[in-house]
Amino acid sequence: MKKLVILSGAGMSAESGLGTFRDQGGLWDQYKIEDVATPEAWEKDPGRVTDFYNMRRKECYAATPNQGHEEIAKLEKYYDVTVVTQNIDDLHERAGSTDVLHLHGEINKVKSAGPNAEKKYYQQNAWEVKMGEKCPEGYQLRPHVVWFGEAVPMLEKAARIIEKADLLVVVGTSLNVYPAAGLVDYVPSKADCYIIDPSEVTVPRKFDVIREKATTGLKKLSETLIRALD
Ligand code: OAD
Repeated sequence: MKKLVILSGAGMSAESGLGTFRDQGGLWDQYKIEDVATPEAWEKDPGRVTDFYNMRRKECYAATPNQGHEEIAKLEKYYDVTVVTQNIDDLHERAGSTDVLHLHGEINKVKSAGPNAEKKYYQQNAWEVKMGEKCPEGYQLRPHVVWFGEAVPMLEKAARIIEKADLLVVVGTSLNVYPAAGLVDYVPSKADCYIIDPSEVTVPRKFDVIREKATTGLKKLSETLIRALD
Protein backbone atom coordinates (compact mmCIF):
# COMPACT_ATOMS: atom_id res chain seq x y z
CA MET A 1 0.00 0.00 0.00
CA LYS A 2 1.18 3.51 -0.73
CA LYS A 3 1.93 5.79 2.22
CA LEU A 4 -0.52 8.68 2.45
CA VAL A 5 0.12 11.38 5.04
CA ILE A 6 -2.51 13.94 5.97
CA LEU A 7 -1.25 17.12 7.65
CA SER A 8 -4.30 18.79 9.14
CA GLY A 9 -5.01 22.04 10.94
CA ALA A 10 -7.90 23.93 12.46
CA GLY A 11 -9.78 24.28 9.14
CA MET A 12 -10.23 20.50 9.18
CA SER A 13 -12.61 20.83 12.13
CA ALA A 14 -14.20 24.17 11.14
CA GLU A 15 -17.22 22.45 9.59
CA SER A 16 -17.68 20.56 12.86
CA GLY A 17 -18.18 23.96 14.50
CA LEU A 18 -14.73 24.36 16.06
CA GLY A 19 -13.20 27.80 15.43
CA THR A 20 -9.95 28.31 13.56
CA PHE A 21 -7.24 30.58 14.96
CA ARG A 22 -6.29 33.07 12.28
CA ASP A 23 -9.41 33.47 10.16
CA GLN A 24 -11.40 36.64 10.76
CA GLY A 25 -13.18 36.28 14.11
CA GLY A 26 -10.96 33.29 14.93
CA LEU A 27 -9.67 32.40 18.37
CA TRP A 28 -6.65 34.69 18.13
CA ASP A 29 -8.98 37.61 17.37
CA GLN A 30 -10.79 36.89 20.63
CA TYR A 31 -7.84 36.06 22.89
CA LYS A 32 -4.21 37.09 23.07
CA ILE A 33 -1.83 34.15 22.65
CA GLU A 34 0.33 35.53 25.46
CA ASP A 35 -2.65 35.49 27.86
CA VAL A 36 -3.73 31.89 27.32
CA ALA A 37 -1.25 29.76 25.39
CA THR A 38 2.25 30.22 26.83
CA PRO A 39 4.09 28.94 29.92
CA GLU A 40 4.25 32.56 31.11
CA ALA A 41 0.46 32.87 30.90
CA TRP A 42 0.19 29.75 33.08
CA GLU A 43 2.65 31.19 35.60
CA LYS A 44 0.76 34.45 35.76
CA ASP A 45 -2.85 33.28 35.72
CA PRO A 46 -3.39 29.51 35.56
CA GLY A 47 -7.13 29.99 36.13
CA ARG A 48 -7.49 32.02 32.94
CA VAL A 49 -5.51 29.44 30.94
CA THR A 50 -7.58 26.63 32.46
CA ASP A 51 -10.83 28.44 31.54
CA PHE A 52 -9.65 28.91 27.95
CA TYR A 53 -8.89 25.21 27.49
CA ASN A 54 -12.04 24.17 29.38
CA MET A 55 -13.98 26.01 26.69
CA ARG A 56 -12.00 24.26 23.95
CA ARG A 57 -12.71 20.90 25.63
CA LYS A 58 -16.41 21.67 26.05
CA GLU A 59 -16.74 22.59 22.37
CA CYS A 60 -14.75 19.54 21.31
CA TYR A 61 -16.90 17.15 23.32
CA ALA A 62 -20.06 18.67 21.83
CA ALA A 63 -18.72 18.47 18.26
CA THR A 64 -18.92 15.53 15.88
CA PRO A 65 -16.61 14.58 13.02
CA ASN A 66 -17.51 16.01 9.63
CA GLN A 67 -17.52 14.35 6.22
CA GLY A 68 -13.89 15.36 5.71
CA HIS A 69 -12.75 13.41 8.78
CA GLU A 70 -14.82 10.49 7.54
CA GLU A 71 -13.31 10.56 4.04
CA ILE A 72 -9.83 10.39 5.57
CA ALA A 73 -10.79 7.43 7.75
CA LYS A 74 -12.26 5.59 4.72
CA LEU A 75 -9.00 5.98 2.79
CA GLU A 76 -7.39 3.46 5.17
CA LYS A 77 -8.97 0.73 3.04
CA TYR A 78 -6.89 1.84 0.09
CA TYR A 79 -3.77 3.52 1.50
CA ASP A 80 -1.45 3.25 4.48
CA VAL A 81 -2.69 6.47 6.10
CA THR A 82 -1.12 8.46 8.92
CA VAL A 83 -2.75 11.66 10.09
CA VAL A 84 -0.37 14.25 11.50
CA THR A 85 -2.58 16.90 13.04
CA GLN A 86 -2.00 20.22 14.72
CA ASN A 87 -5.49 19.90 16.18
CA ILE A 88 -6.04 19.09 19.82
CA ASP A 89 -9.53 17.69 19.18
CA ASP A 90 -10.11 13.96 18.67
CA LEU A 91 -12.39 14.18 15.65
CA HIS A 92 -10.04 12.21 13.38
CA GLU A 93 -10.08 9.32 15.87
CA ARG A 94 -13.83 9.53 16.37
CA ALA A 95 -14.31 9.34 12.58
CA GLY A 96 -12.34 6.10 12.57
CA SER A 97 -8.74 7.05 11.74
CA THR A 98 -6.48 4.59 13.52
CA ASP A 99 -3.07 6.25 13.15
CA VAL A 100 -3.18 9.85 14.38
CA LEU A 101 -0.24 11.83 15.69
CA HIS A 102 -1.06 15.01 17.60
CA LEU A 103 1.67 17.61 17.26
CA HIS A 104 0.13 20.10 19.66
CA GLY A 105 -1.33 17.70 22.21
CA GLU A 106 -4.80 16.43 22.99
CA ILE A 107 -7.55 18.36 24.77
CA ASN A 108 -9.12 15.17 26.16
CA LYS A 109 -6.04 14.60 28.30
CA VAL A 110 -4.53 16.52 31.19
CA LYS A 111 -1.14 16.32 32.76
CA SER A 112 0.76 17.38 35.81
CA ALA A 113 1.95 20.97 35.83
CA GLY A 114 4.93 19.69 37.79
CA PRO A 115 8.21 18.33 36.44
CA ASN A 116 8.30 15.46 33.87
CA ALA A 117 4.78 16.34 32.77
CA GLU A 118 5.07 14.58 29.42
CA LYS A 119 5.23 11.23 31.19
CA LYS A 120 2.21 11.84 33.39
CA TYR A 121 -1.00 12.41 31.56
CA TYR A 122 -4.53 11.32 32.27
CA GLN A 123 -7.78 10.96 30.36
CA GLN A 124 -10.14 13.86 31.12
CA ASN A 125 -13.74 12.84 30.65
CA ALA A 126 -15.49 15.89 32.12
CA TRP A 127 -15.08 19.05 30.05
CA GLU A 128 -14.20 21.13 33.09
CA VAL A 129 -10.93 20.98 34.98
CA LYS A 130 -11.15 22.98 38.19
CA MET A 131 -8.34 24.89 39.82
CA GLY A 132 -7.22 22.76 42.74
CA GLU A 133 -7.66 19.48 40.83
CA LYS A 134 -4.34 17.78 41.20
CA CYS A 135 -2.45 14.81 39.83
CA PRO A 136 -1.49 12.01 42.26
CA GLU A 137 1.87 13.73 42.86
CA GLY A 138 0.07 16.81 44.14
CA TYR A 139 0.60 19.19 41.21
CA GLN A 140 -2.21 21.16 39.59
CA LEU A 141 -3.55 19.52 36.40
CA ARG A 142 -2.97 21.44 33.18
CA PRO A 143 -4.16 20.65 29.65
CA HIS A 144 -2.06 18.18 27.66
CA VAL A 145 -1.35 20.72 24.95
CA VAL A 146 1.76 22.34 23.56
CA TRP A 147 1.99 26.04 24.31
CA PHE A 148 3.93 28.60 22.33
CA GLY A 149 7.49 28.50 23.60
CA GLU A 150 7.32 24.81 24.52
CA ALA A 151 9.03 21.95 22.71
CA VAL A 152 7.00 19.86 20.27
CA PRO A 153 7.79 16.31 21.42
CA MET A 154 6.14 14.61 18.43
CA LEU A 155 8.01 16.66 15.83
CA GLU A 156 10.80 14.18 15.05
CA LYS A 157 8.38 11.29 14.77
CA ALA A 158 6.20 13.33 12.39
CA ALA A 159 9.20 14.26 10.23
CA ARG A 160 10.21 10.57 9.93
CA ILE A 161 6.65 9.71 8.81
CA ILE A 162 6.47 12.50 6.22
CA GLU A 163 9.86 11.44 4.82
CA LYS A 164 8.24 8.16 3.81
CA ALA A 165 5.17 9.67 2.16
CA ASP A 166 4.17 8.75 -1.38
CA LEU A 167 1.37 11.30 -1.09
CA LEU A 168 0.93 14.29 1.22
CA VAL A 169 -2.40 16.05 1.73
CA VAL A 170 -2.29 19.34 3.64
CA VAL A 171 -5.73 20.42 4.78
CA GLY A 172 -7.07 23.36 6.78
CA THR A 173 -3.84 24.89 8.00
CA SER A 174 -2.44 28.35 7.30
CA LEU A 175 1.08 26.86 7.70
CA ASN A 176 1.91 29.84 9.87
CA VAL A 177 3.12 28.08 12.98
CA TYR A 178 6.58 26.58 13.18
CA PRO A 179 7.97 24.04 13.67
CA ALA A 180 4.80 22.24 12.46
CA ALA A 181 4.67 24.19 9.18
CA GLY A 182 8.26 23.18 8.37
CA LEU A 183 7.22 19.52 8.18
CA VAL A 184 6.23 19.93 4.53
CA ASP A 185 9.95 20.33 3.76
CA TYR A 186 10.48 16.67 4.65
CA VAL A 187 8.24 15.26 1.95
CA PRO A 188 10.19 13.38 -0.75
CA SER A 189 10.46 15.27 -4.04
CA LYS A 190 8.72 12.44 -5.93
CA ALA A 191 5.65 12.48 -3.66
CA ASP A 192 2.33 13.84 -4.93
CA CYS A 193 1.28 16.82 -2.80
CA TYR A 194 -2.17 18.34 -2.47
CA ILE A 195 -3.44 21.26 -0.43
CA ILE A 196 -7.09 21.73 0.45
CA ASP A 197 -8.07 25.15 1.77
CA PRO A 198 -10.72 27.68 0.76
CA SER A 199 -8.12 30.45 1.11
CA GLU A 200 -4.76 30.90 -0.51
CA VAL A 201 -1.92 29.31 1.47
CA THR A 202 1.73 29.73 0.55
CA VAL A 203 3.47 26.37 0.17
CA PRO A 204 7.19 25.85 -0.38
CA ARG A 205 6.95 23.49 -3.38
CA LYS A 206 4.59 22.28 -6.08
CA PHE A 207 1.22 21.31 -4.61
CA ASP A 208 -2.02 20.59 -6.45
CA VAL A 209 -4.30 23.23 -5.00
CA ILE A 210 -7.90 22.35 -4.18
CA ARG A 211 -9.51 25.64 -3.24
CA GLU A 212 -12.38 24.15 -1.25
CA LYS A 213 -13.50 23.45 2.28
CA ALA A 214 -12.33 20.24 3.92
CA THR A 215 -15.61 18.36 3.41
CA THR A 216 -16.04 18.92 -0.32
CA GLY A 217 -12.30 19.04 -1.09
CA LEU A 218 -11.61 15.74 0.65
CA LYS A 219 -14.58 14.04 -0.99
CA LYS A 220 -13.29 14.99 -4.44
CA LEU A 221 -9.69 14.15 -3.66
CA SER A 222 -10.57 10.86 -2.06
CA GLU A 223 -12.50 9.82 -5.21
CA THR A 224 -9.47 10.76 -7.32
CA LEU A 225 -7.05 8.87 -5.07
CA ILE A 226 -9.20 5.72 -5.06
CA ARG A 227 -9.68 5.87 -8.85
CA ALA A 228 -5.90 6.21 -9.30
CA LEU A 229 -5.51 2.69 -7.88
CA ASP A 230 -7.63 1.02 -10.62
P1 OAD B 1 -5.16 28.65 11.35
O1 OAD B 1 -6.32 29.28 11.99
O2 OAD B 1 -3.87 29.39 11.34
O3 OAD B 1 -5.49 28.31 9.83
C1 OAD B 1 -6.70 27.69 9.50
C2 OAD B 1 -6.73 27.43 8.01
O4 OAD B 1 -7.92 26.71 7.75
C3 OAD B 1 -6.74 28.68 7.14
O5 OAD B 1 -5.81 28.54 6.08
C4 OAD B 1 -8.19 28.73 6.63
O6 OAD B 1 -8.28 29.30 5.31
C5 OAD B 1 -8.51 27.27 6.58
N1 OAD B 1 -9.96 26.96 6.65
C6 OAD B 1 -10.98 27.66 7.20
N2 OAD B 1 -12.15 27.01 7.05
C7 OAD B 1 -11.85 25.83 6.43
C8 OAD B 1 -12.62 24.71 6.00
N3 OAD B 1 -13.94 24.64 6.20
N4 OAD B 1 -11.97 23.70 5.38
C9 OAD B 1 -10.63 23.75 5.17
N5 OAD B 1 -9.87 24.79 5.53
C10 OAD B 1 -10.46 25.81 6.15
O7 OAD B 1 -5.00 27.20 12.02
P2 OAD B 1 -3.74 26.23 12.03
O8 OAD B 1 -2.93 26.37 10.81
O9 OAD B 1 -4.23 24.89 12.40
O10 OAD B 1 -1.26 26.00 17.91
O11 OAD B 1 -2.94 26.82 13.27
C11 OAD B 1 -1.77 26.20 13.66
C12 OAD B 1 -1.57 26.33 15.13
O12 OAD B 1 -1.72 27.69 15.53
C13 OAD B 1 -2.60 25.61 15.97
O13 OAD B 1 -2.32 24.23 16.13
C14 OAD B 1 -2.51 26.33 17.29
C15 OAD B 1 -2.55 27.74 16.74
O14 OAD B 1 -2.06 28.71 17.53
C16 OAD B 1 -1.08 26.16 19.23
O15 OAD B 1 -1.96 26.56 19.98
C17 OAD B 1 0.29 25.79 19.70
